[in-house]
Amino acid sequence: MESLKPRNVARIPWSEVERHNSKDDLWLLIDGKVYDVTSFLSLHPGGGQLVVDAAAQDSTSLFERTHGEGLRYSLRLLNQFFIGVCENATEAKPAEQEKPSPEFLQTLRSITGALHTFDEAKATGEAQGILR
Ligand code: HEM
Repeated sequence: MESLKPRNVARIPWSEVERHNSKDDLWLLIDGKVYDVTSFLSLHPGGGQLVVDAAAQDSTSLFERTHGEGLRYSLRLLNQFFIGVCENATEAKPAEQEKPSPEFLQTLRSITGALHTFDEAKATGEAQGILR
């Protein structure tokens, strides 16, 4: 099983993600996934700078707190900028102390996909006895 890896999803190290932190080249880390939102900055309702300030950190709980009424819409937009999975997302410093709520993570994952790494899918399969 060790040799099996998803072929069509980029696995991006955190050291690479955090380099894309300017208004001309901006990646966000949200729930372990990486989004290239550069082209969206000028369209962002709160202005582009707010988003630039979220770079080079884990923005999951920040995203929850800053998007109220339009949360689902914002997440659907966000999903279109997905470029890959961060392979060591735990190394990223959270933008906020507070953890994302379970409700937010559920909504987020219902839109962006619940399983974000092959290892997680494999673990689920093994736990359920589907995969040995
Ligand atoms: C993590 C970085 C981000 C921060 C800190 C942030 C912050 C905010 C804030 C403060 C507002 C309210 C603006 C206002 O009412 O004037 C807002 C609105 C909005 N943002 Fe963001 N944003 C971020 C990233 C994004 C991204 C990546 C998207 C979509 C790709 C997005 C989509 C929206 C939309 C659609 C609204 C209007 C609806 C709503 O207020 O929920 N945002 N954002």
